[in-house]
Amino acid sequence: MGEGHGYGKTILFGEHFVVYGLPAIASALGSKTTCIVEPIEGGSYELIDERPATPGYKKEKFDEQKASIENVFQAAGLSTSKNPVKIIFAGDLKAASGVGASAASCAALARALNDEFKLGFDDARINEIAYEGEKGYHGTPSGIDNTAAVYGGLIWFVKNLSGGKNTMELLKLKKPVEVVIGNTGLTSSTKEVVGDVKKLKESRPQEFDAITREYNELAVNAKDALLAYDTPKVGELMNQCHRLLQRITVSCVELDLLVDAARSAGALGAKLTGTGRGGLMIALTPGLEVQAKVAKAIEDEGYSAIRTKIG
Ligand code: MEV
Repeated sequence: MGEGHGYGKTILFGEHFVVYGLPAIASALGSKTTCIVEPIEGGSYELIDERPATPGYKKEKFDEQKASIENVFQAAGLSTSKNPVKIIFAGDLKAASGVGASAASCAALARALNDEFKLGFDDARINEIAYEGEKGYHGTPSGIDNTAAVYGGLIWFVKNLSGGKNTMELLKLKKPVEVVIGNTGLTSSTKEVVGDVKKLKESRPQEFDAITREYNELAVNAKDALLAYDTPKVGELMNQCHRLLQRITVSCVELDLLVDAARSAGALGAKLTGTGRGGLMIALTPGLEVQAKVAKAIEDEGYSAIRTKIG
C-alpha cells in the first residue's frame, strides 16, 4: 500500500494574472487530500473518491479527473493498465472550485505512487508530476496550485513563460493571520474561465496590458505589506485586486455579494480566490472576534464559511 497527501491552497493575489507570468502569492491551507493506492488484479485502476465535496463538484469534474489520473501515471513512468491499482482519495479538504482541490489530489496521487512503486522521487519531481496531472483539469495551468499543494506554506510564485524553472520563494510572516473563506457553492470550470480571460486579452490587448501593469505593482506592494505584517495595507490591496478581477470578468454576483458582506462585517479586505465565476472568496480578518463576525455575515447570507489561517 502507498500513501500520499497534497495541501489545499488559497490564492491571496494573482489568480489568472499568474498564467501570464505575473507574480502571485498563495498560501497552503491546513486541510489536505490524502491518497492510498493498493495494487489490484485487472486491466485498469479502480477509483474510490471519499473526499468531502461541494454538491455536484465530483460529477462535473469526473472526465477531467480521469484525464488527470492518466497524466499522473504517465509522468511517473507508470501505466494505468500495466500497473493497476485501487485509488482511494479522502482527507479533510472539501473539494470545491477555488481551493486547489485538483492540484491537491494530483500531488497526493503522485506521492502515493512514489511510495507504492518505490520510485525515489523528491518533492521537485513530485511537483512536476502533479503539474502534468493538473493539465488534465485545464490545458495551461500556471503551476501555482500544485506548488502550494506539494510544498505548503505561504509562497511567492512566478511562472517561467519560457518553460524554464518557475520562481518560488517561501514567505515567512511574523505570525499567522486569521482569514475567512466563503463558498458560493457554485462549481466553475478553470479551463473555461482561463480560456475566456485569454479571449479578453486577445480582443482588448491594450486594456488587458494596462490592468496587468496595475496588478504587477499591486503584487510587489502586497509582498512588502505581508512581510511587514501591515494587515490594513494587505486588506486594501486585496480590495483593489478584486476590482481588477472584476474588470477581467472573472467575478460573479454571488462572489461580489460575499465580498461586500465580509467588508461590511469588518474584514480588512476581501476578494475572490482561485478561478472565480463561482467557487470561493477570501476575507482578511485578523483576530478571532472579527473572524467570527465575518464568517457569521457570510452564513447569514445563506453560504458556508471556513475559518482558517494563512502564513
Ligand atoms: C486557479 O486556482 C488559478 C488560476 O490562476 C489558474 C492557474 O493558475 O493555473 C485561475
